[in-house]
Amino acid sequence: SGIITMDEGYMNTGACKSAVTFIDGELGILRYRGYDIEDLAQRSSFLEVAYLLIYGELPSQGQFGEFRNRVTRHTMIHEDLKRLYDGFPKDSHPMAILSSMILTLSGYYNDQLDPLNPRHREISITRLLAKTPTIAAYSYKKSIGQPFVYPRNSLSYIGNFLNMMFSVPAEDYAVDPVIEKALDLLLILHADHEQNCSASTVRLVGSSRANLFAAIASGVCALWGPLHGGANQEVIEMLQHIHNDGGDVNKYLNMAKDKNSTFRLMGFGHRVYKNFDPRAKIIKKTADEVLQKLGVNDPLLEIAMKLEEAALNDEYFVERKLYPNVDFYSGIIYKAMGIPTEMFTVMFALGRMPGWIAQWKEMIEDPTTKIGRPRQIYTGAAHRTYVPLDQRG
Ligand code: CMC
Repeated sequence: SGIITMDEGYMNTGACKSAVTFIDGELGILRYRGYDIEDLAQRSSFLEVAYLLIYGELPSQGQFGEFRNRVTRHTMIHEDLKRLYDGFPKDSHPMAILSSMILTLSGYYNDQLDPLNPRHREISITRLLAKTPTIAAYSYKKSIGQPFVYPRNSLSYIGNFLNMMFSVPAEDYAVDPVIEKALDLLLILHADHEQNCSASTVRLVGSSRANLFAAIASGVCALWGPLHGGANQEVIEMLQHIHNDGGDVNKYLNMAKDKNSTFRLMGFGHRVYKNFDPRAKIIKKTADEVLQKLGVNDPLLEIAMKLEEAALNDEYFVERKLYPNVDFYSGIIYKAMGIPTEMFTVMFALGRMPGWIAQWKEMIEDPTTKIGRPRQIYTGAAHRTYVPLDQRG
């Protein structure tokens, strides 16, 4: 008992101390381990950022080489695991497959799952980083009825993923460096975002000392929702819908403002950013560049820009400090790369993997961590006495 403080949606509750990611929502600042997101996006690589988030420092050349080799050597998944894909209907959402497969990995490494054992932690972290792209690409191949493409160790982390997604045995395929670079950047931007819904889920599940695969599979489920990572799929569907409906952005803007309608402008607004989402700024610029370089002319980009401009000049959005978030333009780039809409949230999960791992590692390595256990304010019936069924009429 005692006094319970209510904070619905945890608007103002710190659930942990963390040294991983810093956000200033008023100023639109995002830093991983002290480094500005703009700096990392321009000059680092996704795998290096993964190391930085998980281990706290940028790696030396030797440390990076060792880390890259370690991750590269674990990219294959067990042949038996491949058969599990047969059990999913063809149109299963790839987020359902991703979460299930990640959880299933725990069954293959039964004797290396103890979160309190540093060696078990290390090998689980390596396996997750290495195998998630393979699992994700296989779910796509399954959905289009093509054979799985085995990972290739001669390729980069991103190059290998693209090869597993897009190459077919019958034809030569070479990874387009423009796509490889753009994807690397997108994953860097998604790599962590402090105590968001999915990271908090990973921490909460992990706080019970469930194994890392179980905690991350739960995080994948949390990310799936349309108010979180699922928004990137919804944005492109919304833009497509506006396009098919004649391209009148104001009609949709008005619908988003209408409190009798459940429609929200997807890709707009954020719990923490009350200013431009710094990731959105970078992504918008990248979308323009990538589409130009790839020679793609997507009418949805124009609709997105019109919608953004209209919203930024609209009192409703200005008053509520609603700006485009990371998901607003990312889908347009994924689409230009040939990644299907259903896979967008999976791409987010690939990017967020190092962040989830870093948050979990920080939590589990802290000896003062307690199991997460929120309280409540009870609003149910007062005490009453049971009446047997035969006396209830
Ligand atoms: N369209 C229209 N109205 C909105 C929107 C929107 N996208 N976002 C917030 N509002 C309104 C909301 O109706 C409320 O109005 P009022 O004060 O009149 O009741 C006010 O703005 C505050 O919104 P809230 O829902 O109380 O804010 P929140 O911090 O609980 O929600 C959010 C944040 C991201 C869930 C929300 O802005 C939203 O639903 N956005 C659309 C979905 C989306 O793009 N999600 C991705 C977020 S970024 C990446 C990620 O986290 O994965």
